[in-house]
Amino acid sequence: MKQRILIIDFGSQVTKLIARRIRDFGVFSEIIPFELLQKKKLPKTNEVKGIILSGGPSSVDETNSPKIPKFIYDLNLPVLGICYGLQLLCRDLGGTVRFSKEREFGKTKITIMKKSILFNNFYSPKKTYQVWMSHSDNVIKIPKNFEILASSENCEAAIIQNKKKNIFGVQFHPEVIHTHKGTELLKNFTFHICNCKCIWNMKDFKSQMITEIRNIVGKNKVLCALSGGVDSTVTAVLIHAAIGKQIQCVFVDTGLMRKNEVDNIKKLFKKNFNIPLDIINSSKIFFKKLQGVTNPEKKRKIIGKQFIKVFENYSKKSHKIKFLAQGTLYPDVIESMSKVGKSSVTIKSHHNVGGLPKKMKFKLLEPLRELFKDEVRELGKQLKISNDFVKRHPFPGPGLGIRVLGEINSKNIKIIKDADHIFINLIKEYGLYDKIWQAFCVLLPVRSVGVMGDNRTYEKICVLRAVTSVDGMTAEAFKFSNEFLEKCSNEIINKVKGINRVCYDFTSKPPGTIEFE
Ligand code: XMP
Repeated sequence: MKQRILIIDFGSQVTKLIARRIRDFGVFSEIIPFELLQKKKLPKTNEVKGIILSGGPSSVDETNSPKIPKFIYDLNLPVLGICYGLQLLCRDLGGTVRFSKEREFGKTKITIMKKSILFNNFYSPKKTYQVWMSHSDNVIKIPKNFEILASSENCEAAIIQNKKKNIFGVQFHPEVIHTHKGTELLKNFTFHICNCKCIWNMKDFKSQMITEIRNIVGKNKVLCALSGGVDSTVTAVLIHAAIGKQIQCVFVDTGLMRKNEVDNIKKLFKKNFNIPLDIINSSKIFFKKLQGVTNPEKKRKIIGKQFIKVFENYSKKSHKIKFLAQGTLYPDVIESMSKVGKSSVTIKSHHNVGGLPKKMKFKLLEPLRELFKDEVRELGKQLKISNDFVKRHPFPGPGLGIRVLGEINSKNIKIIKDADHIFINLIKEYGLYDKIWQAFCVLLPVRSVGVMGDNRTYEKICVLRAVTSVDGMTAEAFKFSNEFLEKCSNEIINKVKGINRVCYDFTSKPPGTIEFE
């Protein structure tokens, strides 16, 4: 039985978290930007069990504000509107939304007044809960046949329902961890209102994908871009399980890899998998193309384009190569969709292979495009991939190119490789590697004054970055001991020529991003 919850995205920065939470319940969920909604493109309606309308930055009465197409209401499926989604459905169904310049942002208390299936397992009369709000507009009149279930001091219609039609709305964000019982509320919607079953798991996904890959590829060959990271390794092993020797893996040495990475990958791949692997050394051309470039987006695009050129040249060897496989994940897919639809602001051109050119001779094969990172790790376990790979910290496609800020040259890259090597080895030595989502060094394009021995130094600054995260979408700085940080700083300054100052970055995501560029 196939089933899914459809999430219509109106541009909130936390829409992905809704999908995340629902998948954690064992139910497949899919995000569609509102601009791309078309009746004929919807999954089979009997597969869709319910619809969630996300939040968003607009006001319902602004000209050109996002709308819900009428056919969505005609589906007669359970609906949950969140923030902007609630305001939109109220306006569409005959209520009134008042535009307000006063924003209610952050933690607020709501009081639940009436029983509802939404609070199935946590209702008690007049109980207050902390929720996370982020809105300025308010519903001042609810539509006919709706009732108010909970209010906050500034917002009367904090939770509403039309019990008969199974339409619900919440003014706060249940998907955000600061909302107490938010996960329970989404769970009640998913299981008790939409009647979903807990059937989405990686074992079934693996077998379905293997069959699908066989059907798509037929007798053709697949070129698999390998980076040695979790995503591309899982992609390669999954495709290999489906089509055996029809896969050819290629590792492009851009010169922007971590220290000893190329040798490590070669060894690990030979030892663990019997999959054909070619290594192409292209570092010269990458450095040449990046000469003088300091703009982060330009760097990303140049690296992406060059990757494709290398693959296209390589594929001339065999005319049977029709597919280029890469480990694109769901957050990248959503990011590119919102670029098409402009529903949310593009933060970075996130891709495994940077900005892919529009015209490519390959067809793309992206078997992980529906998965989040932690789901990929689970799939890796199902494919019996060793922890050497599954537990590796993520490494971005553009590599050290986005960790040396400003201009890239071989001297700067060597400095950052050496510093990074020391940092990661110390993390491993202290038994912290598996507690951290990702750790790395960043080289700043400025110099500072120092003193070493009796001499003045005027050298670069290295920033240590280490974060904890579940899926890379939000992150917190890892709390090292002072002793660890001191040791790390000393070792880097003593051993890496070119760095005379080490700083630690405490910024969480948001407002920062994990990478600096
Ligand atoms: P940000 O910096 O956006 O990164 O907070 C979130 C996660 O994505 C990784 N990242 C990339 N991965 N290609 C990739 O394969 C990319 O272009 C790219 N940019 C960022 C980043 O390392 C972090 O894990």
